[in-house]
Amino acid sequence: MIATPPDFDTRFFRSALGRFATGVTIITTESRTQKIPMGLTISSFNSVSLDPPIVLWSLSRAASSLVHFQKAERYVIHVLSATQLHLAKRFAYGPQADRFNNQALTRAPGGTLMLDDPDCSAWFECRNMTQYEAGDHLVFIAQVERCQRNFHLPLVYHAGDFDLTPSTEPISND
Ligand SMILES: Cc1cc2nc3c(=O)[nH]c(=O)nc-3n(C[C@H](O)[C@H](O)[C@H](O)COP(=O)(O)O)c2cc1C
Repeated sequence: MIATPPDFDTRFFRSALGRFATGVTIITTESRTQKIPMGLTISSFNSVSLDPPIVLWSLSRAASSLVHFQKAERYVIHVLSATQLHLAKRFAYGPQADRFNNQALTRAPGGTLMLDDPDCSAWFECRNMTQYEAGDHLVFIAQVERCQRNFHLPLVYHAGDFDLTPSTEPISND
């Protein structure tokens, strides 16, 4: 069946989509041959299946890391907390080559490169199962092999900004 052409432009569509508040993640892996750390900020993460445990996220075809995530056997999805805004910005706006500067790293139990940061709200070590082409993005489907979680306040993204993120400062009455 042929889709009806949209009666809105991309800018309006983006603005409407921005009404949906999301959490924020950083996804890390390594390039397969040279083992260079790769990572980026992603808000399109979502759950798919509980049993077996499956999640998804989508990556722009224009992303410089696309080919590395397509080839990766595994990657780690880190759910960011309210105190990690600087990381979300660095992994979205900074050059790929600088994102891991002074960043403590470790390995998930399956050997996948990940951030060594106790402030993450959760992390999921994932096996790269399938990718689907969908317009200007690729949808990645992954099987979760291991995960951990904390109870930190979440980093929240809404209407193109991080302004709904709960404050970690005490609320003043003046
Ligand atoms: C809060 C936030 C969420 C983002 N979510 C996504 C996403 O879901 N998919 C995507 O392709 N890019 C997303 N981006 C943009 C990428 O993080 C950004 O384009 C990054 O520089 C891509 O890295 P690369 O080109 O080195 O692969 C998001 C950016 C921000 C600030």
